[in-house]
Amino acid sequence: MVERTVAKGPRVVVALDFDNADQARAFARRVRPELCRLKVGKELFTRAGPRVVQELMGAGYDIFLDLKFHDIPTTVARACRAAADMGVWMVNVHASGGGAMLRAARDAVEGVAKPPLLIAVTLLTSLSLDDLRELGYAGSIESNVQRLAILAREAGLDGVVCSAHEAAMLQTLWGTPACLVTPGIRPAGSALNDQSRVMTPHEALKAGASYLVIGRPITGAVDPLAVLASINSDIAAL
Ligand code: C5P
Repeated sequence: MVERTVAKGPRVVVALDFDNADQARAFARRVRPELCRLKVGKELFTRAGPRVVQELMGAGYDIFLDLKFHDIPTTVARACRAAADMGVWMVNVHASGGGAMLRAARDAVEGVAKPPLLIAVTLLTSLSLDDLRELGYAGSIESNVQRLAILAREAGLDGVVCSAHEAAMLQTLWGTPACLVTPGIRPAGSALNDQSRVMTPHEALKAGASYLVIGRPITGAVDPLAVLASINSDIAAL
């Protein structure tokens, strides 16, 4: 799995946080598959379904299907297999679904010729320490992130979604190279929107991130192609 952790090709994964397929298609026409991969999340998928995923793949893009599956092992395994059969490049599940669920997901995607990268969400970054207590979790946010990351690694997943601020720690914890997918990325000088602890693309990759999930700084730009080209040239030497 190590050699699959960071494949050749773009490190930027653009979050298509649109509420309709037309906007996603229009964005895909404005940029190019050599410059970025694309993330389809719950909103776009629920509105536009597998068809938009197939169309974007047909246009040459690698797709991260960000549906964060969390259910009984059989259901998650079947959903992951459906994603793998669709041919997506990356899919994710919640580590808190437990070891049996994670192993079932792993086994399910390995059944296809070219399995997608299988990534775990540890703790949602929207959760506070108070939220953890309410859920019955003991310990700090960091210790819970680490415990869930170890669970994912032991189940044979490829890596985790995390903040770039956790990347160095998680690469060390993982032992072998982990596939670390990091949102909360802002090119120098761009608006924070609702993100707070951000890193630039260059800083995040240096810290150990494998792929950078970036949405509004690119999708909301007057010239998305120019922003992408600038990010790619900034990280080209890494
Ligand atoms: O527009 P922006 O660059 O903030 O988009 C980031 C993307 O990453 C969004 O799709 C968001 O849901 C996702 N994300 C995040 N923070 C996390 C996990 C996921 O911003 N902790």
